[in-house]
Parts: sequence; C-alpha cells; structure tokens
Amino acid sequence: MTTTVRIDQHQLFIDGEFRPAGSGAQFETVNPADGTLITTVARAGEQDVDEAVRSARDARRKWRNATPTDRGRLLLAIAAQLRAESEALALIECLDNGKPISQARFDIEYSARYFEYYGGLADKLDGYVIPLGSDYHSYTTLEPFGVVALITPWNAPLMQAARGLAPALATGNTCVVKPAEDTPLTILEFARIARECGIPAGVINVIPGFGEDAGAALVRHPLVDRIAFTGSVETGRIIARMAADRLAPVSVELGGKSANIVFEDVDVDVAAFNALRAINLNCGQNCSAGSRLLVHSSIHDAVLDSMVALERGLTVGPGLEDPDVGPLTTRDQYQRVCDYLRIGREEGAEAISGGSALVDERLNGGNFVQPTIFAGVTPQMRIAREEIFGPVLCVLPFDDDDEAVAIANDTDFGLVAGIWTNDFSRVHRVSAALEVGQVYINEYFAGGVETPFGGVKDSGYGREKGLAALEHYTRMKTMVARV
Ligand code: NAI
Ligand code: MG
Repeated sequence: MTTTVRIDQHQLFIDGEFRPAGSGAQFETVNPADGTLITTVARAGEQDVDEAVRSARDARRKWRNATPTDRGRLLLAIAAQLRAESEALALIECLDNGKPISQARFDIEYSARYFEYYGGLADKLDGYVIPLGSDYHSYTTLEPFGVVALITPWNAPLMQAARGLAPALATGNTCVVKPAEDTPLTILEFARIARECGIPAGVINVIPGFGEDAGAALVRHPLVDRIAFTGSVETGRIIARMAADRLAPVSVELGGKSANIVFEDVDVDVAAFNALRAINLNCGQNCSAGSRLLVHSSIHDAVLDSMVALERGLTVGPGLEDPDVGPLTTRDQYQRVCDYLRIGREEGAEAISGGSALVDERLNGGNFVQPTIFAGVTPQMRIAREEIFGPVLCVLPFDDDDEAVAIANDTDFGLVAGIWTNDFSRVHRVSAALEVGQVYINEYFAGGVETPFGGVKDSGYGREKGLAALEHYTRMKTMVARV
C-alpha cells in the first residue's frame, strides 16, 4: 500500500527541523486494516524530549510577544492549509488509524475548525478592571503558561492534537506534542504544514515515541509549565501523580461509559439508528461513545429489533473502502475487545447481533470485529461497567425516569449522556440529575469545536474546546497599584 508520506518526515520535529532520534531508535507503525508496515518513525528518548522542551522554552518569549493578531493570522493560515491538503491528510489518517475515509475527512475538517475558531479568538482575550476606589488602579491580564505538553491518543490523532494545539498557541504558549505511538503520521505532516505557514522554529515540537519513556520524560520535565493529557484512566492517574510531584497544572480527559437514554415517546427507528451511530462511529473508539443504551421497557424489544435489522446492513472493512465500520486501531485494542466479547457471554449477556471477531478471508490480518449488541445486560456486569472502546453496545431496560438516571449514574465514569425524548421538562430534569460533563439531547455527538468538553468522576477534569479551553491555557495576573 502506498502513501503520500515522505520518508524525511518520519522523524522528530524539534526546533523547526526534522531529525532522527539522538539514539537512532525507530519504531514501526502498521496499517490496522491488514497488519502491514506503513513506515518507520524516529523514537524519541529522554535526550530528545529535553531538546524539544528547551526549544519550546527558547521560542516562548518571541511567540508570546507577537501580536495576538499575528498569532491569529498564522493559525488561520494553518486552517486553510489543512483544508487544502485535506485529502492527503485524510488518506494518511485512514491508513494509520484505520478509520473509514469519510470519517478521516471529517477529522481533518474538524482539526481545521480548531485553528479557525481559536485563530479568530487570539485577539479577543481581554482582562478587566477592578474598582477599588480612586486611590487604586487594579486590572488583570491573561498570560500564557509557557511550554505546554500535549500527550495525545490514537483514536482521532490529528483532531486530538489540534484540540490542544490551537487554543494553546492562540494564547501565546509554545508546545511539545507526544502523539500516541500507534498513530504518529498526521501530526508530523501537520508540523511540516505549520512550518510552511510560518510558525517560528520551536513554537511547535513533535516527539513521536512511547508513553513510558518519551511521554513520562515530558511530564516530568521541569521546564514544562502545563500538561494536557487524553487517554486511559490508568495512564491519566500516572500522569496526574507525576505532575503533582512538581505541582505542574494538568488536565486529564479520560474514558467513558456513556449512557444513551431512550424514553418511550420517541420514534423507535430513529432511536435505533442513532444508538448504533453513537457506538459504531470510529469503530466505537470514542471516549464519548454511547456504549450503554438505556431503553424504556415499553419500547425495548422494538428498539432491539430495529437495531438488529440495521446492524445486519452495516458494512465492515478497510477504511479506504469507506465502510460503516473499520478495523480497531491497534492489535492490543482488538485483543481487548475480543476479551470483552467473551466476558459478556460468560456473564450471561446475549449477543443478539455480532458477538465475535470477524473471520473473513478478505480481512485477514486486520483488526476487525463484528459490531455487537448485547441484550440482557445488568448494571453489575463488567461489560456494563468497564470501557470497552469498540463497537460493542450494551442494552439495559428501565421503567421510569428515576431508574434511568440511577442506572446512568451508576458508573465510575462521567463523560457524556444522551437523552432522546420530546418532553422538554423531562429534558431539563434529567439533564440536571446526570453526573456527566455534557448531555446530548436528541442528537448524539451534538456540538462542535465551540462546545466545552470534559469529564467528571473517572472521566477526568478540565474542559477542552470552546471558550472554556482558554482558561486552561492562560493564567490570570492581577495588578494592583496605589495611584
Ligand atoms: P494510553 O492512555 O496508555 O495512551 C494514551 C497516550 O498516553 C499515548 O500517547 C501514550 O504513549 C501515552 N502514555 C502511556 N503511558 C504513559 C506514561 N506513563 N507517561 C506518559 N505518557 C504515557 O491508552 P492505550 O493504552 O493506548 O489505550 C488503553 C485504553 O485507554 C483504551 O482501550 C481506551 O479504553 C482508553 N483510551 C481512551 C481514549 C480517550 O479518548 N479518552 C483514547 C485512547 C484510549
Ligand atoms: Mg498504553
């Protein structure tokens, strides 16, 4: 399989240059659709991390002192260039991550939107004046932190990096990105684009490598002023602990086990279609996936019948064929999802659709599983409590609003909930009672780069996206003068 990626760009990007790792180490990135090697990539070690952080540190003053208008214009130029190269970028994302090409195109457009949105905001961040009487003058400014470290996952590689980069850069920080070792390619293309658009050397650094060495070295580095992490709960705890040692501010956007709640007053087929989309998009590898479907018992069977019929029509295959469902991104994730399919059966849930890995001559070597619907799930089962991160839907019935809320909240996670109903007072009552960071009402995955996003409970803390993210990447300074 050929890609448009050029070999000299599978390197580290430090201080405006592509270069090999100091140790010469490399790692392989593979195509999840067939297990073949796409390319090798330089593997950052501690020394490389140090150089990347120092380069970001050196660039810090120049970047923060640039006019906000100039910073905003550069971000808008990046947005335009991402769009100009969107087809090539989507192809690379599709190969590296496995997602269907139309979903990869969506990710690139979404990434461009981040740069457009925060580029437009760069020159609109005011402070305020605090009235203390005529003897004083007091005012606030918003300052960048300095060097921001972004540690990103593999489920939406460029989009997840763009979500942190755009607000961090708009507010005058410089960045070091440690992409997931499974999907390093689009962010390296991005680094080239940023350089071509005129981003000064050192303002963006990209250090592909592994979590335990490059990632941990970045989090521990004393010159990193702020950390944003997206990934697993387990790693989130490790990073928050390391950051605590040197009191570095950190935000962690972790997993979910989000309840998508279908009340009895909605169209059964609409609910079924959207419930499948909520779990199967990106092969279920979304922190916000609607992985628990809570259905009012009066329409439970009808929704199940409709979903089974719809799921039978779904196509599964390599991302380049633009199927409904692609492969899982990593071999580990494939194994993990297969384990949960077995666990679900052992716990007594019934796979009314799918239920196992996909065995198909044509798809041999790829990380393919059957989109699966488990019925007969109880809230105590592991498949109802643990994040599977695959196209595996658990369906649980409920009898009234209170029970729906109780089941929805009976989880360690608290990222998203979906509500489907035409009863507006119920919408507000139930939304208020749900222990989550965001509620999607009558459309799952509603919202965009403008809408704040983050978790409660084990789904983490901090808010990305929207104006809320600006608070993360700036700190307020207060001046008080006796005049
Ligand atoms: P992970 O949390 O280990 O990896 C995410 C990022 O953290 C990667 O860039 C990785 O290199 C880095 N990392 C790992 N260990 C680190 C350390 N000690 N110090 C610094 N950085 C470190 O996620 P993993 O293992 O790839 O996936 C496991 C599970 O995590 C998935 O099955 C899924 O449940 C969840 N997950 C959630 C995501 C989300 O969007 N919230 C994204 C990816 C995974
Ligand atoms: Mg890991």
